[in-house]
Amino acid sequence: MTGVSVSHQEISSGRPVVRVPIKPTAHDLATGRDPERVRIFDTTCRDGEQSPGAAMNAEEKLTLARQLAVLGIDILEAGFPAASNGDFEAVRRIAEQVGNRPNPPIICGLARATAGDIERCWEAIQPAAFPRIHTFIATSDIHLEHKLRKTRSEVLDIITEQVRLARSLCADVEFSAEDATRSDPEFLHEAFRRAVAAGATTLNVPDTCGYITPNEMYTLIRGVYENVPGIQTGDVILSVHGHDDLGMSVANFLAACEAGVRQVEVTVNGIGERAGNASLEELVMALFVRRNYYARVFGRDDIASGQSEQQLTNIQFKEIAKTSRMVSSLTGMVVAPNKAVVGANAFRHESGIHQHGYLRNAATYSIMSADVVGAATNAISLGKLSGRAAFRARLAELGYELNEDELNRAFVRFKELADRKREITDADLEAIVSGGLKEIGVEHFKLKRVQVQCGSASIPTATVTLLVMETGKEETDAAYCAVNAVVAQHGLDVELLEYSVSSVTSGIDSLGEVMVRVRDRRMNRIFSGYAADTDVVTASVQAFVNALNRCSRNTNTPQPIHPQHSSA
Ligand code: KIV
Ligand code: ZN
Repeated sequence: MTGVSVSHQEISSGRPVVRVPIKPTAHDLATGRDPERVRIFDTTCRDGEQSPGAAMNAEEKLTLARQLAVLGIDILEAGFPAASNGDFEAVRRIAEQVGNRPNPPIICGLARATAGDIERCWEAIQPAAFPRIHTFIATSDIHLEHKLRKTRSEVLDIITEQVRLARSLCADVEFSAEDATRSDPEFLHEAFRRAVAAGATTLNVPDTCGYITPNEMYTLIRGVYENVPGIQTGDVILSVHGHDDLGMSVANFLAACEAGVRQVEVTVNGIGERAGNASLEELVMALFVRRNYYARVFGRDDIASGQSEQQLTNIQFKEIAKTSRMVSSLTGMVVAPNKAVVGANAFRHESGIHQHGYLRNAATYSIMSADVVGAATNAISLGKLSGRAAFRARLAELGYELNEDELNRAFVRFKELADRKREITDADLEAIVSGGLKEIGVEHFKLKRVQVQCGSASIPTATVTLLVMETGKEETDAAYCAVNAVVAQHGLDVELLEYSVSSVTSGIDSLGEVMVRVRDRRMNRIFSGYAADTDVVTASVQAFVNALNRCSRNTNTPQPIHPQHSSA
């Protein structure tokens, strides 16, 4: 593979490497995946969605799940089926459709360690060709005392009973010891021994609060490796899960791999609770760019010596940028420009000295190039004269499968855009479709027209043909005031928390992409809205209206149960 510099001095971490014997699983055999790879467990649809305001509806989750399968993830945590009927339905549809495509990922559902959660989870994931139940309970004293109000011995009994139940339903069971990194290691080992004895096939060590450091992680994982039967024989796979509160989650995961971990739990763009989860793209690209180093760690001398082109994960790198954009527009979680691998500046060289060196030899200031992760593909794909068939075919290539109604709406938007913009790129198409998906469901507020009058010597005035007209300090403010005034009459009480605007591609006629996050004061819940248009004020108002429609649609739906905040 080209586009990356790999010639450099390698320095040993000084930590003895743990060689893990891996037995191929039924999923490895059926899909032809290398059993010795690092398994990528994606939890964007579950833990990622736990970011405030990032909730996706079933249609959006399905769209993302399809793309995650194309990306090549191994395990897709589709949701927490006991959370709500909506989440159950989303997981079930993903299990049916994505879990049965050619070369499918394992479809996993989360369940607290209770019979109710586990049975509901099984019902949702059962249609998948390779289902997995992921059950968890906390093992740290602080959680036992203040959250669970249970003794250690009660927790051990729950593990035995609930893992056994899960295993009686499903051959693939993952057990997580929540807050493992703040647990007494001796107790953690005992909890894991109980889980293995009851039938768990994957053991997960979550750094729930993002507390641990890489050396500590290495020591903790080695302790588990040495003290829990099943891992050294290759019958049980060891996994890590972690949050980024101190910005160390990816470094922790890499240290864990040196100690015997072969499954990593990540999210696209690192979205998730609080500071987010370990980021898929960072972890995967670290294993790619530094694959000579990690190949040695994993005992893959064939790769390290250059005899084999095999990668250490099953990820299709070229799908990374597209998946990142999709997650951002579906969840409303904006990617910071300086974000590693997928940020807008990740491959830009600004200073004169850097540019000079880079032009002489890219390797002077670059360890990977944009095209490796598919970030450099702005190919012109369609134009004004393109028909529906070409439009549909290109969307399918981009990973979007739309029904007739969705396709019709998207096509109308495409034609409107093509009238105003000469060249329509893949990124434009993705923006059109993502904006359209957000509108699925009943629309309580429909934006008909936005008209803005502004200039350096006048007060900006916005006319929103939602219902009324109002003025404010800036164009967008003005329009937002107008929309707010209308929706207030319909019982909504919202506060704008975040507003961000960026351009989808470069050029004066580029689509403006807007993400907003609003708080519904009545429910104290956060919703996001996304829209793209060549006119940024129109995109702003449409994004706001989309977020309001989400508030409105959720007005009478019960607050979903949070898997970790609500004790069973
Ligand atoms: O952070 C955490 O501990 C989790 C578990 C449910 C795996 O998300
Ligand atoms: Zn988590």
